[in-house]
Amino acid sequence: MTELLALENVWAGYGDAVILEDISLSLGEADSMALLGRNGMGKTTLLSTLMGATRFKSGRMRYRGQDLAVVPAHGRARLGLGWVPQERDIFPSLTVEENLTVVAQPGNWDLKRVYDLFPRLRERRSNMGNQLSGGEQQMLAMARALMLNPKVLLLDEPLEGLAPLIVQDLLRIIGQMVGSGEMAVILVEQHAHQILPLTRQALVLERGRVVFSGASDTLRDDLTQLDKWLGVGAH
Ligand SMILES: Nc1ncnc2c1ncn2[C@@H]1O[C@H](COP(=O)(O)OP(=O)(O)O)[C@@H](O)[C@H]1O
Ligand SMILES: [Mg+2]
Repeated sequence: MTELLALENVWAGYGDAVILEDISLSLGEADSMALLGRNGMGKTTLLSTLMGATRFKSGRMRYRGQDLAVVPAHGRARLGLGWVPQERDIFPSLTVEENLTVVAQPGNWDLKRVYDLFPRLRERRSNMGNQLSGGEQQMLAMARALMLNPKVLLLDEPLEGLAPLIVQDLLRIIGQMVGSGEMAVILVEQHAHQILPLTRQALVLERGRVVFSGASDTLRDDLTQLDKWLGVGAH
């Protein structure tokens, strides 16, 4: 698998505080990774570090062969890093369609394809962002990231707080994104059992450190460790 993104011994945090300690990972083109860990373990901080929104202390971040750490935050989306933050910060006073077209960049993903993947958004195309349900907002945030035609899509707890039926729908859609082979996906979740079947590799963080890095299948079968790192209900 051709390398897309690699972190080597990365330390990062906020101001003087160090949150991430010695993180290494490697993601191939069209690869998929479950990023797991309990609340407060550093999952969002890791995605933020990729996007340039934390203080990078040391280590190496390589993206398509170039040094990512020196690329300013505002340049990273253009390079192909698509980020769907935990807060789903869609534009509340733009319509669904405006939310999508305002960020569009040329590539395979256009309005038609995005609407085909999210028929609900096509129905709601003229509604304002702030008129959407939580599930629709999450769909819009994901759809908007696709319109950027990213090489790697970073999804931060996309299922959080959503009703079970919508969760099933989103899992199916995420499975299609991963299966499309057109982009790599890093998927943050607290509930491992929902996403391990969708991803090739898994990374578990505990207090800012990697405690597991390997195949999702291996982690899925290791109920003892799943319990220890993620707690009951993780599987
Ligand atoms: N903006 C921030 N400034 C300082 N500390 C932060 C900030 N955001 C998160 N943290 C701290 O970083 C640690 C990891 O948080 P986070 O990455 O959000 O965890 P997770 O996403 O796994 O729940 C926590 O101790 C949290 O309090
Ligand atoms: Mg988080």
